[in-house]
Amino acid sequence: MYRSHNLGELRASHIGDQVVLSGWVHQNRDLGNLIFINLRDRYGITQVVVQNSDELIEKAKRIGLEDVICIEGKVIERSSKNSKLETGDIEVEVVKLTVLSKSKPSPIDIHDKGIQSGEELRLKYRYLDLRGERMKRNMISRNTMITAMREFLSKEDFLDIDTPILSKATPEGARDFVVPSRLAKHEFFALPQSPQLFKQILMISGLDKYFQIAKCFRDEDLRADRQLEFTQLDIEMSFITSDEFMTTMEKLAKYIHNRVLGEKIAYSFPRISYHEAIENYGIDKPDTRFDMKIQNITNVLANSSFSGFSSVVSEGKTIRAIVAKNLGEKISRKIVMDFEEVLKKQFKIKGLVFIKFGVEITSPIKKFLSDEEVDNLKAKLCLENNDMVFIVADSFKIACESLGKLRIELGHMFKLANENQFNYLWVTKFPLLEWSEEDQRYKAQHHPFTAILADDFEMLATHKEVARTDSYDLVLNGNEIGGGSIRIHNRDVQNQVFEMLGLSPEEIKHKFGFFLEAFQYGVPPHGGMAYGLDRYLMVLLKESSIREVIPFPKTNKGRCLMMESPCSVDTEQLEELAIELKNI
Ligand code: AMO
Repeated sequence: MYRSHNLGELRASHIGDQVVLSGWVHQNRDLGNLIFINLRDRYGITQVVVQNSDELIEKAKRIGLEDVICIEGKVIERSSKNSKLETGDIEVEVVKLTVLSKSKPSPIDIHDKGIQSGEELRLKYRYLDLRGERMKRNMISRNTMITAMREFLSKEDFLDIDTPILSKATPEGARDFVVPSRLAKHEFFALPQSPQLFKQILMISGLDKYFQIAKCFRDEDLRADRQLEFTQLDIEMSFITSDEFMTTMEKLAKYIHNRVLGEKIAYSFPRISYHEAIENYGIDKPDTRFDMKIQNITNVLANSSFSGFSSVVSEGKTIRAIVAKNLGEKISRKIVMDFEEVLKKQFKIKGLVFIKFGVEITSPIKKFLSDEEVDNLKAKLCLENNDMVFIVADSFKIACESLGKLRIELGHMFKLANENQFNYLWVTKFPLLEWSEEDQRYKAQHHPFTAILADDFEMLATHKEVARTDSYDLVLNGNEIGGGSIRIHNRDVQNQVFEMLGLSPEEIKHKFGFFLEAFQYGVPPHGGMAYGLDRYLMVLLKESSIREVIPFPKTNKGRCLMMESPCSVDTEQLEELAIELKNI
Protein backbone atom coordinates (compact mmCIF):
# COMPACT_ATOMS: atom_id res chain seq x y z
CA MET A 1 0.00 0.00 0.00
CA TYR A 2 2.76 2.47 0.90
CA ARG A 3 5.59 1.50 -1.38
CA SER A 4 6.37 -0.69 -4.33
CA HIS A 5 10.01 0.44 -4.35
CA ASN A 6 12.30 2.25 -1.99
CA LEU A 7 13.75 5.64 -2.87
CA GLY A 8 17.19 4.45 -3.89
CA GLU A 9 15.95 1.76 -6.24
CA LEU A 10 14.52 3.14 -9.48
CA ARG A 11 16.71 3.16 -12.60
CA ALA A 12 16.25 3.75 -16.36
CA SER A 13 15.15 0.12 -16.65
CA HIS A 14 11.99 1.01 -14.68
CA ILE A 15 10.84 3.66 -17.17
CA GLY A 16 7.16 3.11 -17.93
CA ASP A 17 6.45 1.27 -14.65
CA GLN A 18 3.66 2.35 -12.28
CA VAL A 19 5.08 2.77 -8.77
CA VAL A 20 4.04 3.72 -5.23
CA LEU A 21 6.63 5.63 -3.19
CA SER A 22 6.69 6.97 0.37
CA GLY A 23 9.16 9.12 2.22
CA TRP A 24 10.14 12.48 3.67
CA VAL A 25 10.13 15.67 1.62
CA HIS A 26 13.83 16.44 1.27
CA GLN A 27 13.51 19.41 -1.10
CA ASN A 28 10.72 21.01 -3.10
CA ARG A 29 10.94 23.41 -6.00
CA ASP A 30 7.80 25.25 -7.02
CA LEU A 31 7.99 26.49 -10.63
CA GLY A 32 4.31 27.54 -10.78
CA ASN A 33 2.60 24.84 -12.81
CA LEU A 34 5.43 22.40 -12.27
CA ILE A 35 6.55 21.19 -8.85
CA PHE A 36 9.59 19.02 -8.20
CA ILE A 37 9.82 17.17 -4.93
CA ASN A 38 12.85 15.22 -3.77
CA LEU A 39 11.58 12.36 -1.65
CA ARG A 40 13.98 10.73 0.81
CA ASP A 41 14.16 7.52 2.79
CA ARG A 42 16.97 5.40 4.24
CA TYR A 43 17.90 4.09 0.81
CA GLY A 44 18.18 7.31 -1.16
CA ILE A 45 16.42 10.14 -2.90
CA THR A 46 14.02 10.04 -5.83
CA GLN A 47 12.68 13.08 -7.67
CA VAL A 48 8.95 13.19 -8.24
CA VAL A 49 7.22 15.74 -10.42
CA VAL A 50 3.71 17.15 -10.15
CA GLN A 51 2.29 18.65 -13.38
CA ASN A 52 -0.80 18.60 -15.63
CA SER A 53 -3.35 18.60 -12.79
CA ASP A 54 -4.46 21.77 -11.01
CA GLU A 55 -5.79 19.79 -8.08
CA LEU A 56 -2.49 17.92 -7.58
CA ILE A 57 -0.46 21.10 -8.04
CA GLU A 58 -2.57 22.88 -5.37
CA LYS A 59 -2.01 19.96 -3.01
CA ALA A 60 1.73 19.84 -3.71
CA LYS A 61 2.10 23.56 -3.01
CA ARG A 62 0.96 23.00 0.58
CA ILE A 63 3.61 20.37 1.23
CA GLY A 64 6.52 21.36 3.50
CA LEU A 65 10.00 20.01 4.13
CA GLU A 66 10.08 16.80 6.22
CA ASP A 67 6.36 16.08 5.65
CA VAL A 68 5.82 12.36 5.08
CA ILE A 69 3.96 11.73 1.82
CA CYS A 70 2.95 8.83 -0.37
CA ILE A 71 2.68 9.14 -4.14
CA GLU A 72 1.59 6.96 -6.99
CA GLY A 73 2.82 7.59 -10.50
CA LYS A 74 4.71 6.55 -13.59
CA VAL A 75 8.51 6.35 -13.95
CA ILE A 76 9.64 8.65 -16.78
CA GLU A 77 13.03 9.58 -18.23
CA ARG A 78 14.50 12.78 -16.83
CA SER A 79 15.28 15.46 -19.36
CA SER A 80 18.22 16.79 -17.31
CA LYS A 81 19.91 13.82 -15.69
CA ASN A 82 21.54 14.15 -12.25
CA SER A 83 24.70 12.06 -12.07
CA LYS A 84 25.05 12.77 -8.34
CA LEU A 85 21.89 10.77 -7.57
CA GLU A 86 21.77 7.01 -8.09
CA THR A 87 18.20 7.48 -9.25
CA GLY A 88 19.21 10.55 -11.30
CA ASP A 89 18.23 9.10 -14.70
CA ILE A 90 14.53 9.04 -13.91
CA GLU A 91 11.73 10.88 -12.15
CA VAL A 92 8.22 9.84 -11.21
CA GLU A 93 5.21 11.68 -12.63
CA VAL A 94 2.64 11.87 -9.84
CA VAL A 95 -0.98 10.79 -10.39
CA LYS A 96 -1.97 10.49 -6.73
CA LEU A 97 -0.55 12.28 -3.69
CA THR A 98 -1.36 11.63 -0.02
CA VAL A 99 0.08 13.52 2.91
CA LEU A 100 0.68 10.90 5.61
CA SER A 101 2.04 13.27 8.25
CA LYS A 102 2.91 16.98 8.44
CA SER A 103 6.17 18.24 9.92
CA LYS A 104 6.91 21.42 11.81
CA PRO A 105 10.03 23.24 10.53
CA SER A 106 13.02 21.27 11.81
CA PRO A 107 14.87 22.97 14.70
CA ILE A 108 18.17 21.59 13.38
CA ASP A 109 19.67 21.54 9.92
CA ILE A 110 19.37 17.84 9.21
CA HIS A 111 21.64 17.95 6.20
CA ASP A 112 24.66 19.90 7.39
CA LYS A 113 26.27 16.71 8.78
CA GLY A 114 25.97 18.08 12.29
CA ILE A 115 28.47 20.82 11.59
CA GLN A 116 26.37 23.95 12.18
CA SER A 117 23.66 22.68 14.51
CA GLY A 118 24.88 22.70 18.12
CA GLU A 119 25.28 19.29 19.76
CA GLU A 120 22.70 19.95 22.47
CA LEU A 121 19.99 20.59 19.89
CA ARG A 122 21.10 17.58 17.88
CA LEU A 123 20.78 15.38 20.97
CA LYS A 124 17.40 16.81 21.97
CA TYR A 125 16.07 16.18 18.47
CA ARG A 126 18.03 12.98 17.96
CA TYR A 127 15.30 11.51 15.70
CA LEU A 128 15.86 14.39 13.27
CA ASP A 129 19.64 14.22 13.60
CA LEU A 130 19.52 10.50 12.74
CA ARG A 131 17.82 11.41 9.45
CA GLY A 132 21.00 13.12 8.22
CA GLU A 133 23.61 11.44 6.02
CA ARG A 134 26.40 11.37 8.62
CA MET A 135 24.39 9.74 11.38
CA LYS A 136 22.73 7.36 8.94
CA ARG A 137 26.16 6.24 7.74
CA ASN A 138 27.28 5.78 11.35
CA MET A 139 24.24 3.69 12.29
CA ILE A 140 24.60 1.51 9.19
CA SER A 141 28.31 1.02 9.96
CA ARG A 142 27.38 0.12 13.53
CA ASN A 143 25.07 -2.56 12.20
CA THR A 144 27.77 -3.80 9.81
CA MET A 145 30.22 -3.99 12.69
CA ILE A 146 27.86 -5.98 14.93
CA THR A 147 26.91 -8.29 12.05
CA ALA A 148 30.60 -8.87 11.25
CA MET A 149 31.31 -9.73 14.89
CA ARG A 150 28.49 -12.25 14.93
CA GLU A 151 29.49 -13.74 11.57
CA PHE A 152 33.11 -14.28 12.54
CA LEU A 153 32.49 -15.61 16.03
CA SER A 154 29.64 -17.91 15.04
CA LYS A 155 31.83 -19.42 12.34
CA GLU A 156 34.53 -19.99 14.96
CA ASP A 157 31.97 -21.85 17.11
CA PHE A 158 31.47 -19.19 19.80
CA LEU A 159 28.11 -19.16 21.58
CA ASP A 160 26.21 -15.88 21.97
CA ILE A 161 25.00 -16.03 25.59
CA ASP A 162 23.32 -13.16 27.38
CA THR A 163 23.85 -12.35 31.05
CA PRO A 164 21.74 -10.35 33.54
CA ILE A 165 21.56 -6.59 33.80
CA LEU A 166 20.29 -6.65 37.36
CA SER A 167 23.37 -8.07 38.99
CA LYS A 168 26.03 -7.42 41.57
CA ALA A 169 28.99 -5.05 41.70
CA THR A 170 31.92 -6.13 39.51
CA PRO A 171 35.25 -4.51 40.12
CA GLU A 172 36.16 -2.79 36.84
CA GLY A 173 37.34 0.27 38.70
CA ALA A 174 34.41 2.66 38.23
CA ARG A 175 31.45 3.48 40.48
CA ASP A 176 28.41 1.23 40.18
CA PHE A 177 24.92 2.22 39.21
CA VAL A 178 22.73 0.72 41.90
CA VAL A 179 19.09 -0.31 41.61
CA PRO A 180 16.95 -0.58 44.74
CA SER A 181 14.99 -3.80 45.16
CA ARG A 182 11.31 -3.48 46.10
CA LEU A 183 11.02 -7.12 47.12
CA ALA A 184 14.18 -7.13 49.20
CA LYS A 185 13.94 -3.80 51.00
CA HIS A 186 17.18 -1.96 51.71
CA GLU A 187 19.02 -4.18 49.26
CA PHE A 188 20.35 -3.20 45.87
CA PHE A 189 21.30 -4.69 42.56
CA ALA A 190 24.19 -3.19 40.65
CA LEU A 191 24.17 -2.77 36.89
CA PRO A 192 27.12 -4.67 35.39
CA GLN A 193 30.28 -2.67 34.64
CA SER A 194 30.96 -5.65 32.37
CA PRO A 195 29.84 -9.30 32.30
CA GLN A 196 33.26 -10.30 33.69
CA LEU A 197 32.13 -12.62 36.50
CA PHE A 198 29.35 -14.20 34.46
CA LYS A 199 31.62 -15.04 31.56
CA GLN A 200 34.18 -16.66 33.84
CA ILE A 201 31.36 -18.65 35.45
CA LEU A 202 30.30 -19.75 31.95
CA MET A 203 33.81 -21.16 31.44
CA ILE A 204 33.40 -23.13 34.67
CA SER A 205 30.12 -24.36 33.16
CA GLY A 206 32.06 -25.79 30.23
CA LEU A 207 30.62 -23.43 27.56
CA ASP A 208 34.13 -22.89 26.37
CA LYS A 209 33.71 -20.19 23.71
CA TYR A 210 31.41 -17.33 24.72
CA PHE A 211 30.61 -13.95 23.27
CA GLN A 212 28.02 -11.27 23.81
CA ILE A 213 27.27 -7.79 22.53
CA ALA A 214 26.89 -6.54 26.07
CA LYS A 215 25.67 -3.31 27.61
CA CYS A 216 27.98 -2.06 30.36
CA PHE A 217 27.33 0.65 32.91
CA ARG A 218 30.00 2.69 34.65
CA ASP A 219 29.35 5.76 36.73
CA GLU A 220 32.52 7.62 35.82
CA ASP A 221 33.47 11.08 34.60
CA LEU A 222 32.68 11.37 30.93
CA ARG A 223 35.11 12.20 28.14
CA ALA A 224 35.00 12.23 24.37
CA ASP A 225 35.63 8.47 24.31
CA ARG A 226 33.57 7.43 27.34
CA GLN A 227 29.89 6.98 28.13
CA LEU A 228 28.01 5.98 31.28
CA GLU A 229 26.38 3.23 29.29
CA PHE A 230 28.34 1.67 26.44
CA THR A 231 28.56 -1.53 24.47
CA GLN A 232 31.24 -4.18 24.53
CA LEU A 233 31.90 -7.14 22.34
CA ASP A 234 32.68 -9.40 25.27
CA ILE A 235 34.55 -12.67 24.68
CA GLU A 236 35.90 -15.54 26.77
CA MET A 237 37.60 -18.83 25.85
CA SER A 238 38.85 -21.87 27.74
CA PHE A 239 42.08 -23.83 27.30
CA ILE A 240 44.02 -21.09 25.51
CA THR A 241 47.24 -19.16 26.02
CA SER A 242 47.44 -15.40 25.61
CA ASP A 243 49.40 -15.90 22.41
CA GLU A 244 46.71 -18.11 20.86
CA PHE A 245 43.96 -15.83 22.05
CA MET A 246 45.55 -12.68 20.61
CA THR A 247 46.01 -14.46 17.29
CA THR A 248 42.28 -15.23 17.11
CA MET A 249 41.36 -11.72 18.20
CA GLU A 250 43.62 -10.23 15.56
CA LYS A 251 41.82 -12.23 12.87
CA LEU A 252 38.53 -10.95 14.26
CA ALA A 253 39.69 -7.31 14.20
CA LYS A 254 40.88 -7.69 10.61
CA TYR A 255 37.55 -9.21 9.63
CA ILE A 256 35.62 -6.37 11.29
CA HIS A 257 37.89 -3.73 9.75
CA ASN A 258 37.41 -5.14 6.29
CA ARG A 259 33.64 -5.43 6.65
CA VAL A 260 33.18 -1.89 8.03
CA LEU A 261 35.64 -0.03 5.81
CA GLY A 262 36.19 -2.42 2.91
CA GLU A 263 39.95 -2.28 3.51
CA LYS A 264 42.29 -5.18 4.22
CA ILE A 265 44.85 -4.92 7.01
CA ALA A 266 47.78 -6.93 5.72
CA TYR A 267 50.33 -6.61 8.54
CA SER A 268 50.53 -8.63 11.77
CA PHE A 269 49.69 -6.45 14.73
CA PRO A 270 52.95 -5.56 16.51
CA ARG A 271 53.14 -6.63 20.16
CA ILE A 272 55.00 -4.52 22.69
CA SER A 273 55.09 -4.79 26.46
CA TYR A 274 53.63 -2.15 28.75
CA HIS A 275 57.18 -1.28 29.81
CA GLU A 276 58.28 -0.76 26.20
CA ALA A 277 55.20 1.36 25.55
CA ILE A 278 55.99 3.65 28.47
CA GLU A 279 59.70 3.76 27.65
CA ASN A 280 59.21 4.62 23.97
CA TYR A 281 55.95 6.54 23.95
CA GLY A 282 55.24 7.51 27.57
CA ILE A 283 51.74 6.03 27.38
CA ASP A 284 50.15 2.58 27.40
CA LYS A 285 48.13 3.30 24.22
CA PRO A 286 50.65 4.79 21.81
CA ASP A 287 49.72 6.29 18.48
CA THR A 288 52.40 4.73 16.29
CA ARG A 289 51.36 6.56 13.11
CA PHE A 290 54.24 8.92 13.76
CA ASP A 291 57.64 8.19 15.20
CA MET A 292 59.08 10.74 17.67
CA LYS A 293 60.05 8.01 20.16
CA ILE A 294 61.34 8.97 23.59
CA GLN A 295 65.11 8.50 23.85
CA ASN A 296 67.40 7.94 26.78
CA ILE A 297 70.12 10.63 26.86
CA THR A 298 71.19 10.11 30.47
CA ASN A 299 74.72 9.10 29.45
CA VAL A 300 75.17 12.15 27.25
CA LEU A 301 74.23 14.71 29.90
CA ALA A 302 74.97 12.94 33.20
CA ASN A 303 77.95 15.18 33.95
CA SER A 304 76.40 18.36 32.63
CA SER A 305 77.33 21.61 34.31
CA PHE A 306 73.59 22.27 34.34
CA SER A 307 72.67 21.04 37.81
CA GLY A 308 69.06 20.36 36.70
CA PHE A 309 70.55 17.38 34.84
CA SER A 310 73.54 16.24 36.87
CA SER A 311 71.83 16.37 40.27
CA VAL A 312 68.88 14.37 38.95
CA VAL A 313 71.20 11.69 37.59
CA SER A 314 73.11 11.52 40.87
CA GLU A 315 69.78 10.67 42.54
CA GLY A 316 69.55 7.63 40.25
CA LYS A 317 66.95 9.23 37.99
CA THR A 318 67.04 9.63 34.22
CA ILE A 319 67.19 12.16 31.35
CA ARG A 320 64.86 11.57 28.41
CA ALA A 321 64.24 13.46 25.20
CA ILE A 322 62.03 13.67 22.14
CA VAL A 323 62.95 15.27 18.84
CA ALA A 324 60.48 17.42 16.92
CA LYS A 325 61.99 16.87 13.45
CA ASN A 326 62.21 19.90 11.24
CA LEU A 327 59.80 21.86 13.42
CA GLY A 328 62.24 24.22 15.14
CA GLU A 329 61.04 27.27 13.27
CA LYS A 330 57.40 26.53 13.92
CA ILE A 331 57.71 26.09 17.70
CA SER A 332 57.87 29.45 19.41
CA ARG A 333 59.06 30.13 22.94
CA LYS A 334 55.43 30.84 23.87
CA ILE A 335 54.37 27.37 22.69
CA VAL A 336 57.16 25.80 24.78
CA MET A 337 56.14 27.81 27.85
CA ASP A 338 52.52 26.75 27.47
CA PHE A 339 53.53 23.11 27.16
CA GLU A 340 55.82 23.44 30.17
CA GLU A 341 53.01 24.82 32.28
CA VAL A 342 50.68 21.97 31.37
CA LEU A 343 53.35 19.34 32.08
CA LYS A 344 54.34 20.96 35.38
CA LYS A 345 50.75 20.88 36.50
CA GLN A 346 49.97 17.35 35.33
CA PHE A 347 53.25 15.55 36.02
CA LYS A 348 54.96 17.85 38.51
CA ILE A 349 58.10 18.05 36.34
CA LYS A 350 60.65 20.62 37.47
CA GLY A 351 61.16 22.01 34.00
CA LEU A 352 61.00 21.37 30.27
CA VAL A 353 64.30 22.13 28.56
CA PHE A 354 64.46 22.73 24.81
CA ILE A 355 67.37 22.96 22.41
CA LYS A 356 66.75 24.26 18.90
CA PHE A 357 69.37 23.19 16.39
CA GLY A 358 70.39 25.48 13.54
CA VAL A 359 73.57 27.20 12.48
CA GLU A 360 73.70 28.10 16.14
CA ILE A 361 71.83 26.40 18.91
CA THR A 362 69.09 28.19 20.83
CA SER A 363 68.36 27.03 24.34
CA PRO A 364 67.86 28.46 27.82
CA ILE A 365 70.72 26.17 28.96
CA LYS A 366 73.04 26.98 26.05
CA LYS A 367 75.78 28.35 28.29
CA PHE A 368 75.92 25.05 30.22
CA LEU A 369 76.35 22.88 27.13
CA SER A 370 79.90 21.94 26.10
CA ASP A 371 80.76 21.42 22.42
CA GLU A 372 81.31 17.75 23.15
CA GLU A 373 77.87 17.38 24.70
CA VAL A 374 76.28 19.09 21.71
CA ASP A 375 78.16 16.80 19.30
CA ASN A 376 77.19 13.73 21.31
CA LEU A 377 73.56 14.81 21.35
CA LYS A 378 73.65 15.34 17.60
CA ALA A 379 75.11 11.89 17.06
CA LYS A 380 72.82 10.11 19.52
CA LEU A 381 69.61 11.76 18.29
CA CYS A 382 70.62 12.06 14.58
CA LEU A 383 69.94 15.79 14.68
CA GLU A 384 69.78 18.10 11.71
CA ASN A 385 69.17 21.80 11.29
CA ASN A 386 65.72 22.98 12.37
CA ASP A 387 65.24 20.02 14.74
CA MET A 388 64.04 20.82 18.23
CA VAL A 389 64.85 18.63 21.21
CA PHE A 390 62.71 18.56 24.37
CA ILE A 391 64.30 17.20 27.53
CA VAL A 392 62.89 16.16 30.91
CA ALA A 393 65.11 14.95 33.76
CA ASP A 394 63.17 13.06 36.41
CA SER A 395 62.12 9.58 37.50
CA PHE A 396 61.60 7.09 34.64
CA LYS A 397 57.83 7.33 35.01
CA ILE A 398 57.57 11.12 35.15
CA ALA A 399 60.15 11.77 32.41
CA CYS A 400 58.55 9.29 30.00
CA GLU A 401 54.93 10.13 30.75
CA SER A 402 55.41 13.90 30.50
CA LEU A 403 57.30 13.59 27.20
CA GLY A 404 54.64 11.13 26.03
CA LYS A 405 51.98 13.77 26.63
CA LEU A 406 54.11 16.37 24.80
CA ARG A 407 54.55 13.93 21.91
CA ILE A 408 50.79 13.61 21.54
CA GLU A 409 50.27 17.38 21.74
CA LEU A 410 52.94 18.00 19.08
CA GLY A 411 51.35 15.27 16.98
CA HIS A 412 47.98 17.09 17.11
CA MET A 413 49.45 20.54 16.63
CA PHE A 414 51.49 19.63 13.55
CA LYS A 415 49.18 16.87 12.23
CA LEU A 416 52.01 14.34 12.31
CA ALA A 417 49.80 11.27 12.03
CA ASN A 418 48.53 10.19 8.62
CA GLU A 419 44.73 10.42 8.90
CA ASN A 420 44.23 7.56 6.48
CA GLN A 421 46.41 5.06 8.30
CA PHE A 422 45.18 2.50 10.82
CA ASN A 423 47.87 1.31 13.21
CA TYR A 424 46.80 -1.61 15.37
CA LEU A 425 49.06 -2.61 18.22
CA TRP A 426 48.97 -5.05 21.14
CA VAL A 427 50.30 -3.76 24.45
CA THR A 428 50.97 -6.67 26.81
CA LYS A 429 52.16 -7.57 30.29
CA PHE A 430 50.64 -4.77 32.34
CA PRO A 431 51.71 -4.50 35.98
CA LEU A 432 49.39 -6.27 38.42
CA LEU A 433 49.13 -3.24 40.68
CA GLU A 434 49.09 0.49 40.41
CA TRP A 435 49.50 2.96 43.22
CA SER A 436 46.43 5.04 43.92
CA GLU A 437 47.38 8.50 45.23
CA GLU A 438 43.76 9.10 46.13
CA ASP A 439 43.35 5.99 48.28
CA GLN A 440 47.03 5.70 49.28
CA ARG A 441 47.07 2.00 48.46
CA TYR A 442 47.77 -0.38 45.58
CA LYS A 443 44.85 -1.18 43.32
CA ALA A 444 44.52 -3.73 40.54
CA GLN A 445 45.63 -2.16 37.23
CA HIS A 446 43.05 -4.18 35.40
CA HIS A 447 40.61 -6.26 37.41
CA PRO A 448 41.56 -8.68 40.18
CA PHE A 449 40.97 -11.82 38.11
CA THR A 450 44.00 -11.28 35.89
CA ALA A 451 46.63 -14.05 35.95
CA ILE A 452 50.15 -13.19 37.05
CA LEU A 453 52.95 -14.12 34.63
CA ALA A 454 54.57 -17.39 35.76
CA ASP A 455 58.02 -15.73 35.83
CA ASP A 456 56.79 -13.01 38.16
CA PHE A 457 54.82 -15.14 40.57
CA GLU A 458 57.67 -15.46 43.06
CA MET A 459 57.92 -11.67 43.26
CA LEU A 460 54.54 -11.40 44.94
CA ALA A 461 56.08 -12.01 48.34
CA THR A 462 58.89 -9.45 47.94
CA HIS A 463 58.19 -6.91 45.14
CA LYS A 464 54.51 -7.22 44.39
CA GLU A 465 54.49 -3.72 42.82
CA VAL A 466 56.63 -4.90 39.88
CA ALA A 467 54.82 -8.19 39.24
CA ARG A 468 53.35 -8.33 35.72
CA THR A 469 50.20 -9.97 34.43
CA ASP A 470 49.33 -12.06 31.38
CA SER A 471 47.26 -9.21 29.97
CA TYR A 472 46.86 -7.37 26.69
CA ASP A 473 45.20 -4.24 25.37
CA LEU A 474 44.38 -3.67 21.73
CA VAL A 475 45.29 -0.15 20.63
CA LEU A 476 44.26 1.57 17.41
CA ASN A 477 45.73 4.95 16.48
CA GLY A 478 46.32 5.87 20.11
CA ASN A 479 42.95 4.60 21.39
CA GLU A 480 42.43 1.62 23.68
CA ILE A 481 39.77 -0.24 21.73
CA GLY A 482 39.87 -3.43 23.78
CA GLY A 483 41.52 -5.20 26.64
CA GLY A 484 41.65 -8.47 28.49
CA SER A 485 43.79 -11.14 30.05
CA ILE A 486 44.33 -14.76 30.92
CA ARG A 487 42.55 -15.31 34.24
CA ILE A 488 43.52 -16.81 37.54
CA HIS A 489 41.97 -20.28 37.68
CA ASN A 490 43.26 -21.36 41.05
CA ARG A 491 41.14 -20.59 44.10
CA ASP A 492 44.03 -19.99 46.49
CA VAL A 493 45.78 -17.61 44.12
CA GLN A 494 42.53 -15.73 43.55
CA ASN A 495 42.03 -15.39 47.27
CA GLN A 496 45.63 -14.25 47.72
CA VAL A 497 45.17 -11.50 45.09
CA PHE A 498 41.97 -10.29 46.78
CA GLU A 499 43.88 -10.07 50.06
CA MET A 500 46.78 -8.27 48.39
CA LEU A 501 44.34 -5.65 47.19
CA GLY A 502 43.41 -4.98 50.78
CA LEU A 503 40.07 -6.79 50.89
CA SER A 504 39.18 -8.19 54.31
CA PRO A 505 37.95 -11.81 54.56
CA GLU A 506 34.42 -10.42 55.19
CA GLU A 507 34.56 -8.25 52.08
CA ILE A 508 35.87 -11.14 50.00
CA LYS A 509 32.99 -13.29 51.20
CA HIS A 510 30.38 -10.56 50.65
CA LYS A 511 31.57 -9.57 47.16
CA PHE A 512 33.03 -12.75 45.72
CA GLY A 513 31.90 -15.60 47.99
CA PHE A 514 29.84 -17.18 45.18
CA PHE A 515 32.77 -16.87 42.80
CA LEU A 516 35.28 -18.53 45.09
CA GLU A 517 32.73 -21.22 45.80
CA ALA A 518 32.43 -21.95 42.07
CA PHE A 519 36.22 -22.18 41.95
CA GLN A 520 35.98 -25.37 44.01
CA TYR A 521 34.26 -27.29 41.23
CA GLY A 522 36.83 -27.64 38.45
CA VAL A 523 37.95 -24.49 36.66
CA PRO A 524 39.48 -24.67 33.17
CA PRO A 525 42.37 -22.32 32.34
CA HIS A 526 40.68 -19.47 30.51
CA GLY A 527 41.00 -15.93 29.26
CA GLY A 528 39.24 -13.32 27.22
CA MET A 529 38.83 -9.71 26.34
CA ALA A 530 36.27 -7.06 25.58
CA TYR A 531 36.29 -4.71 22.63
CA GLY A 532 34.81 -1.27 23.31
CA LEU A 533 32.40 -1.48 20.39
CA ASP A 534 31.47 2.20 20.33
CA ARG A 535 35.04 3.38 20.74
CA TYR A 536 36.31 1.02 18.04
CA LEU A 537 33.67 2.28 15.63
CA MET A 538 34.46 5.90 16.51
CA VAL A 539 38.10 5.36 15.51
CA LEU A 540 37.26 3.48 12.31
CA LEU A 541 34.85 6.22 11.22
CA LYS A 542 37.29 8.95 12.29
CA GLU A 543 34.69 10.56 14.50
CA SER A 544 36.04 12.73 17.29
CA SER A 545 33.37 11.80 19.84
CA ILE A 546 31.87 8.48 20.87
CA ARG A 547 28.45 10.18 20.89
CA GLU A 548 28.48 10.27 17.09
CA VAL A 549 28.35 6.48 16.83
CA ILE A 550 25.82 5.78 19.61
CA PRO A 551 22.16 6.06 18.60
CA PHE A 552 20.98 7.69 21.83
CA PRO A 553 24.00 8.85 23.84
CA LYS A 554 24.22 10.84 27.06
CA THR A 555 25.77 14.29 27.23
CA ASN A 556 29.03 15.00 29.01
CA LYS A 557 26.94 15.70 32.08
CA GLY A 558 25.39 12.27 31.87
CA ARG A 559 21.93 13.31 30.67
CA CYS A 560 19.70 12.11 27.85
CA LEU A 561 18.41 15.37 26.40
CA MET A 562 15.78 13.69 24.25
CA MET A 563 14.03 11.75 27.04
CA GLU A 564 15.06 14.25 29.68
CA SER A 565 16.52 11.66 31.98
CA PRO A 566 17.52 11.20 34.72
CA CYS A 567 14.41 12.68 36.30
CA SER A 568 12.53 12.61 39.60
CA VAL A 569 10.16 9.75 40.48
CA ASP A 570 6.81 9.69 42.27
CA THR A 571 6.75 9.77 46.05
CA GLU A 572 4.76 6.51 46.02
CA GLN A 573 7.50 4.82 44.07
CA LEU A 574 10.08 5.94 46.64
CA GLU A 575 7.88 4.78 49.50
CA GLU A 576 7.50 1.34 47.97
CA LEU A 577 11.27 1.14 47.83
CA ALA A 578 11.60 2.47 51.40
CA ILE A 579 13.76 5.32 50.15
CA GLU A 580 13.77 8.79 51.62
CA LEU A 581 15.46 11.64 49.73
CA LYS A 582 17.94 13.82 51.53
CA ASN A 583 19.03 17.30 50.53
CA ILE A 584 22.82 17.30 50.40
P1 AMO B 1 37.88 -2.82 30.16
O1 AMO B 1 37.43 -2.16 31.40
O2 AMO B 1 39.28 -2.56 29.70
O3 AMO B 1 37.80 -4.39 30.29
O4 AMO B 1 36.88 -2.47 28.98
C1 AMO B 1 37.05 -3.01 27.68
C2 AMO B 1 36.94 -1.92 26.65
O5 AMO B 1 35.70 -1.21 26.78
C3 AMO B 1 35.88 0.15 26.39
N1 AMO B 1 35.40 1.02 27.48
C4 AMO B 1 34.54 2.05 27.32
N2 AMO B 1 33.94 2.54 26.22
C5 AMO B 1 33.10 3.58 26.38
N3 AMO B 1 32.81 4.15 27.57
C6 AMO B 1 33.38 3.69 28.71
N4 AMO B 1 33.07 4.25 29.88
C7 AMO B 1 34.30 2.60 28.62
N5 AMO B 1 35.04 1.89 29.51
C8 AMO B 1 35.69 0.95 28.80
C9 AMO B 1 37.34 0.34 26.09
C10 AMO B 1 37.99 -0.83 26.78
O6 AMO B 1 39.18 -1.22 26.16
N6 AMO B 1 35.85 -7.15 31.65
C11 AMO B 1 37.03 -6.54 31.05
C12 AMO B 1 37.44 -7.24 29.80
C13 AMO B 1 38.11 -8.56 30.02
O7 AMO B 1 39.01 -8.64 30.87
O8 AMO B 1 37.76 -9.52 29.32
C14 AMO B 1 36.71 -5.08 30.75
O9 AMO B 1 35.59 -4.62 30.81
O10 AMO B 1 37.54 0.25 24.69
